Amino acid sequence: MKIDILTLFPEMFSGVLESSIIKRAIEANLVSINIHDYREFSLDKNKKVDDYSYGGGAGMVIRVQPIVDCLKSIKGIETAKKIVTTPKGIKYNQLKAKSLANEKHIVVVCGHYEGIDERIINYVDEEISIGDYILTGGEIAALAIIDSVVRLIPGSLGNNQSNKDESFEEILEYPQYTRPDNFEDLLVPDVLLSGNHELIRKYRRFESLKITFVRRPDLLENLNLNEEDKQMLEKIKNIKK
Ligand code: ADE
Repeated sequence: MKIDILTLFPEMFSGVLESSIIKRAIEANLVSINIHDYREFSLDKNKKVDDYSYGGGAGMVIRVQPIVDCLKSIKGIETAKKIVTTPKGIKYNQLKAKSLANEKHIVVVCGHYEGIDERIINYVDEEISIGDYILTGGEIAALAIIDSVVRLIPGSLGNNQSNKDESFEEILEYPQYTRPDNFEDLLVPDVLLSGNHELIRKYRRFESLKITFVRRPDLLENLNLNEEDKQMLEKIKNIKK
């Protein structure tokens, strides 16, 4: 996969892209990531990229020309999936991450607190928000998107098993524990030490359903529940009463 990022703050990406899973995925040639400073495409002699807002108002607006010229300089841009990060975008989720992970080439234009000239929407496929809060710019949103996509590329996580059975695939994840089994009198649930795989499976399914019921009941609405799930949910509803 190829990822291009357009930003005014290239330095914000170095630490994240040079660490952990993303670094490994780059080294293993599973992904190549290029950062573009679109200020370089400004035609202004001082490399200014913003200007006054038509219609008036205090804020400035990022001009569309430097971004579009930067986009046009990217090889294969025509067929790339192009997104812009903005709080007014469609809300990002795991389903969207999976769909982006199937792309060969993603281009992310980082939004900016001043706002970008609306005509940018003619040059991108989608506007994406990572949640209902306002960041100072789209860079952190772009990083969140890239991180969630790269880890889904087959081979990027050491153990292929690791991105199964996890929160948001369907329901929230069950609690996990590791050694020691007693930490300051906080004990690991007995069932996990029992070695009984069927009991452990049931315990984990029950705990997943329970935390989902309490925190994210919306996720249960579209879930295909089997008979065992339904019985567990009945029990969970009774605990709550
Ligand atoms: N830029 C500022 N806030 C944002 C958000 N929540 N999602 C995406 N881009 C943003």
